[in-house]
Amino acid sequence: MKTLLLCCLLWALLETGTCVSCEVCQNKGDSCTGPVQVCSKELDSCGIMKTESILGEKSLSFEKACVSSSLCNLGPLYMKFGNGISISRNVACCVGEACKTATVSVPPANTTLNGRRCPACFSMFSHHCNEEIIDCTGSQTHCLHVSGTVKRGETAMKIKVKGCTTESSCTNKEIFKEFDANTTTAECSPASSRVAT
Ligand SMILES: *[C@@H]1O[C@H](CO)[C@@H](O)[C@H](O)[C@H]1NC(C)=O
Ligand SMILES: *[C@@H]1O[C@H](CO)[C@@H](O)[C@H](O)[C@H]1NC(C)=O
Repeated sequence: MKTLLLCCLLWALLETGTCVSCEVCQNKGDSCTGPVQVCSKELDSCGIMKTESILGEKSLSFEKACVSSSLCNLGPLYMKFGNGISISRNVACCVGEACKTATVSVPPANTTLNGRRCPACFSMFSHHCNEEIIDCTGSQTHCLHVSGTVKRGETAMKIKVKGCTTESSCTNKEIFKEFDANTTTAECSPASSRVAT
């Protein structure tokens, strides 16, 4: 902690930017509390992230962390992977006192078909994936393909996912960093329109 503070003071002296401190925690559900940590220099904001995952059943996860402010104005992210699997997530950012009252909500996904289609599959623990073509909804104008390893603490897991996604997840690769993913592939392409048969 002392070292971190010292680093921060040095940065503050050497650079024009200042250091941000954020509460860091992660929990299932709707809130979390944890220790305050000094962020590294490139992470210039505190982020509050709420993720709703539907993998069979619906689960909520809540996270507070140091984030890059480039994540702050992306708007909610909606991803769909076929087989009824989907992930919705939103990030709210704050600095200093504002973090005591900051909240985040994930607006319900727009389920209207938008005429776009993507290859989809979802595989954990393996890089093998049975692909299908799915219809995208609402603001999902892009196809996502991520494969690699996701780390959560000590646990590393092979993943391969493909599906429809909101454009913002494509323009901002920080999202994958934030997921702590060592992604060997993270690709995005505009979703094709449904081909009439
Ligand atoms: C839901 O998505 C459809 C298809 O993209 C769009 O036409 C419609 O305006 C959206 N509805 C809302 C409430 O955003
Ligand atoms: C990411 O994964 C590759 C291949 O498994 C590995 O060589 C590399 O060291 C990993 N990088 C990090 C930062 O974990």
